[in-house]
Amino acid sequence: MRSLLVVFALIVLVNTPIMTAQKVELSIDASKTGAKIDRNIFGQFAEHLGHGIYEGIWVGSDSKIPNTRGIRNDVVGALKAIKVPNVRWPGGCFADEYHWRKGIGPQRSVTLNPNWGGVTEANTFGTHEFMDFIDQIGAEAYVSVNVGSGTPQEAAEWLEYMTAAASTTLVKERAANGHPAPYKVALLGIGNESWDCGGNMTPDYYVSQMKIYSRFVRNFNPAQQDKQQMLKIAVGPGGDGPRWTDWTETVMKAYQQHTWSWDINGLSMHNYTVPHWPPSYASVGFGETEYSQILKSTLEMDGLISKHSAIMDKYDPDKKVALIVDEWGGWYAPLPGSNPGFLVQQNSLRDAILAALNLNIFARHADRVRGANIAQMINVLQAMIITDKERMVLTPTYYVFKMYVPFQDATFVPVNFDAGWYTHGAVALPRLDAIAAKDANGKLWLEITNLDPNEPVEVEAGLAGITAKSASGETLTAPKVDSVNTFDAANTVIPKPISAKVQAGKLTLKLEPKSITVVSVEQ
Ligand code: AHR
Repeated sequence: MRSLLVVFALIVLVNTPIMTAQKVELSIDASKTGAKIDRNIFGQFAEHLGHGIYEGIWVGSDSKIPNTRGIRNDVVGALKAIKVPNVRWPGGCFADEYHWRKGIGPQRSVTLNPNWGGVTEANTFGTHEFMDFIDQIGAEAYVSVNVGSGTPQEAAEWLEYMTAAASTTLVKERAANGHPAPYKVALLGIGNESWDCGGNMTPDYYVSQMKIYSRFVRNFNPAQQDKQQMLKIAVGPGGDGPRWTDWTETVMKAYQQHTWSWDINGLSMHNYTVPHWPPSYASVGFGETEYSQILKSTLEMDGLISKHSAIMDKYDPDKKVALIVDEWGGWYAPLPGSNPGFLVQQNSLRDAILAALNLNIFARHADRVRGANIAQMINVLQAMIITDKERMVLTPTYYVFKMYVPFQDATFVPVNFDAGWYTHGAVALPRLDAIAAKDANGKLWLEITNLDPNEPVEVEAGLAGITAKSASGETLTAPKVDSVNTFDAANTVIPKPISAKVQAGKLTLKLEPKSITVVSVEQ
């Protein structure tokens, strides 16, 4: 009997995988700093699309959902906590069919939203409501003007209406509508995807339009004349083929020859994680294969930025023009039963990792990438927040943005390591990703993502350039790669404290499989 038990125990031992953590050494020299990680790379995008605005932000002041002047309080509270730097509005494709006058004053016109779900647009959320919303959450305005079906005059008058202080008829109208003081418009988008839904323009045609808008669509806010000048963002590429490199070449070549009469400060880039078009990957109920394929696809962001940055460097070696990745994120198949035009999808632990990887890519390109807007803020694509009438749930992506708050405007610090690869089938991914930065108080922050969904990693980070005393932090993981937060189980994917040890200038911590970890180092 005893020998039978021994044989049985041996069989169990041989067949049980031993979870030995991989050991990885990182080296960080806090005295070797790079570019500032512009807080605007944590920007958001809110389009008139599905329930992104209506229900997601705007419920109206008569609603039973607690609100302030029609804007839901729960959403505002959640967004304040992630310190949203700017919100891009009103689109997207919607922007090139938006006529701002329909969204001001006591009488709003009901119009159509042919891009998104064939529904009507009540225009009850217009300029004043948007400005109130961003004021409530503490963000700045990134307004995209209508180049596709509008006119330079319409856009110029909108900017006068929003920003002028002098006693013009438009300014009096703004005051009569409740806001005597000029609004601040921090960023101006000159069109959206003008190569496609924004009018299917050739690069040359777009450039001639863009110059006109740049010249005449002025910001009159007295507080934005010297300091805090409005940044003008031209439409940029949407991919990496010759069509897109030609576009970047054409806009940047024009910029190089710009005269006193027009200027741009940024070039937009759109890049979704969507391995095949139309989007067919499920946002829930997937396994390791889809997890690894989506992460592989999202890492292409790095090459795309490098490619377009290299073109920009030719015409703008001083990097005056920022690359603004103002639409990015995972784009999956619409949830069954939803209006396909509403772009409704779930948000899982995979999306949290996807977000961390992209934010790290932007941080590594911080000298050129000085803005980005995840698509989209609420209820649409890779959202921070999902609502259903009075209910609200924060997504795994939301928690990544919360954990990354200390990186806003921090100074990039390089991290060196070789963690090897995690492989699944034909897909090979770097096992770890990491960035570090120093905040305004000189505190060092480290983010490490363990992409491997099966193996933990033991990290030993050598810290030079500071006298490290202790470290503490949080980690975000969940039981499965497709774990989600739902209205009934909102805490499945939430950050938890992690213990980190500092001894003799070395930081050690153990990373869970498929996790995102942020630690700060006390000196
Ligand atoms: O985010 C959804 C859409 O994707 C935007 O309206 C458009 O700019 C892009 O094609």
